[in-house]
Amino acid sequence: MGKLDGKVALVTGAAAGIGLSTAKLFASEGAKVTIADIDETKAKAEAEALGSNAKAVVLNVTDENAWKDAVAASTDTFGKLNILVNNAGISEPGTIEDTSTELWRRIMSINLDSVFFGCREAMAAMKAAGEPGSIINICSMAGIRPASFITAYAASKAAVSMLTKCVALHCANMGYPIRCNSVLPGATETPMFERYLDASVASGIAREDAYDMFAQNHAMKRPGKPEEVAHAALFLASDDSSFTTGVDLPVEGGGLIRE
Ligand SMILES: NC(=O)c1ccc[n+]([C@@H]2O[C@H](COP(=O)([O-])OP(=O)(O)OC[C@H]3O[C@@H](n4cnc5c(N)ncnc54)[C@H](O)[C@@H]3O)[C@@H](O)[C@H]2O)c1
Repeated sequence: MGKLDGKVALVTGAAAGIGLSTAKLFASEGAKVTIADIDETKAKAEAEALGSNAKAVVLNVTDENAWKDAVAASTDTFGKLNILVNNAGISEPGTIEDTSTELWRRIMSINLDSVFFGCREAMAAMKAAGEPGSIINICSMAGIRPASFITAYAASKAAVSMLTKCVALHCANMGYPIRCNSVLPGATETPMFERYLDASVASGIAREDAYDMFAQNHAMKRPGKPEEVAHAALFLASDDSSFTTGVDLPVEGGGLIRE
């Protein structure tokens, strides 16, 4: 018996990295999963690989109207929505001095506006389903521990953490059976992480040195695996966490307790 038997999930940014690991784990635990991503080709390929319990939907998470279509596609196909994982996000470096207004707005739009749209849209579908719902926002250790070289990214993730708590509190106040929690990954070995290593190499830093720099940023002296983040999302998605709402769950190898 799977931990998500009978549940329907929508995962954004699910064609790669943490989102893909999460979609695969949820499907293996019995959920029907909508793989929502801006990359249509990859989303379709991953959904096909998962079989009839998965469906691909093209979604640019910054597009408010596209959110309505994505949630409708999920409910039309699978009949309801119980779980939303707001995972899609981008990270590009920049201190306060070298972050352009354009980059600031792009990061806020993809990392923060998207979560606002997603929570609002999913809540309506979850209320309509009349069953317990769980919203999981993939935040970051950088939303709690300042990192000046990714100023806009850290600010966007801090805002997602607070948005999560406000959504959780509202649902509890209203008596909705919907929980909302955040996961705070540390550096995680995904295409996003690879792009940071590539950028380090391009700036003259050896790949192993760049990898080690990220590893040393965690008490456990290594980056995480996307599957390790997916397992935290599974806990928050399943009834195992039925009395947990409004929390930031770190999955960061002790990056927040590092000396
Ligand atoms: N990898 C890390 O080190 C790390 C650490 C902390 C937090 N996170 C967070 O985890 C989440 C996933 O990160 P990842 O490393 O798996 O990223 P990734 O770049 O490896 O994969 C991101 C996926 O999101 C999709 N995507 C990008 N923009 C989109 C948009 N506008 N609409 C829909 N889909 C879009 C991409 O096509 C891709 O499939 C992000 O929110 C990220 O901030 C990652």
